Amino acid sequence: MTLSEFQQLVTSLAADGENMIDAATTAALLEEARTSLLGRKSGRLPELFKQLPSLAPTELREAGSLINAVKAKLEAHLDDRRRQLDAAASSQRKVDLTMPARRQWLGSKHPVTLVIEEIEDIFRGLGFTIALGPEAETEWYNFTSLNFPPDHPALDLHDTLYLGENVLLRTHTSPVQIRTMQKFKPPIRILSPGNAYRRDFFDASHAPMFAQIEGLAIDEGVSFVDLKATLTHFANRFFGKTKTRFRPSYFPFTEPSAEMDVECQLCHGSGCASCKGTGWMEILGSGMVHPSVLNASGLDGDRYTGWAFGMGPARIAMLRYDIPDIRILYDSDVRFLYQISR
Ligand code: DAH
Repeated sequence: MTLSEFQQLVTSLAADGENMIDAATTAALLEEARTSLLGRKSGRLPELFKQLPSLAPTELREAGSLINAVKAKLEAHLDDRRRQLDAAASSQRKVDLTMPARRQWLGSKHPVTLVIEEIEDIFRGLGFTIALGPEAETEWYNFTSLNFPPDHPALDLHDTLYLGENVLLRTHTSPVQIRTMQKFKPPIRILSPGNAYRRDFFDASHAPMFAQIEGLAIDEGVSFVDLKATLTHFANRFFGKTKTRFRPSYFPFTEPSAEMDVECQLCHGSGCASCKGTGWMEILGSGMVHPSVLNASGLDGDRYTGWAFGMGPARIAMLRYDIPDIRILYDSDVRFLYQISR
């Protein structure tokens, strides 16, 4: 064989080889191409190596370096193609375009949080400031300063979780009234949301831990008219235009005291199961701050008057959304939560 014949064979093998490699679309086809080009038994390149001895000894060096260069080129080309096929296969594995998209899990605010924020907004618009207090309280702040005598039957109203002698989990948010009046001079207008605790069974209408919102307004010349007007305004803002009524009640820290009802939001007064046929729903307790409470806080009970209220936002959420069982609010079941909070 002449050198130029050999060169032709090598050149055409190089061209065919490149084409075969490029045409291989799977790892198996690429392996077939590799075997037919470089396979030791009958690959086209090893067959050409076998032709070398038929060349003139003076041409061996040139022919040898030519065929070795083509071998190296084909091997490199095979490697490149394998990497390409691998990359394509693994990117296919990462993105399956036929798979239905997963719904993104986005958290949302709890219905009770939404109710608290809405109530805060209404009172903020009336000049009230948000005030917070500790959940672990002393007996003095939780009871004594609020005019509960140590042996008063009113203490039976509260079944208290004690943390130690004289220290307890507050049974209501009312102690924040005292803490505020100790710190700030009237005029005072605060709203105090927070958790309270009672030794109650967890049933359809009680939770041992629950949110409360306390309100307090103190100044010279504040009267029951302010209480009624403000709380009526609140009810109309929160529930939409609604009827309200005040019923006499008793709390040790207010005198007089009143419970406030709004017309049943479900039957609008005609009477239904949710309002037990009365047409009314109780939403809060309130009253004129007792002079001993003012005095206990260091304010002059002759000079200042004021009113206060306390309400349970979970109860209000239950009334507004017709939730039959308070425990649903603690279950974290998104099938329920998504109906209110989105
Ligand atoms: N602290 C009362 C309770 O937990 C609620 C309450 C009633 C708060 C009347 C007040 C109020 O400030 O004036 O049941």
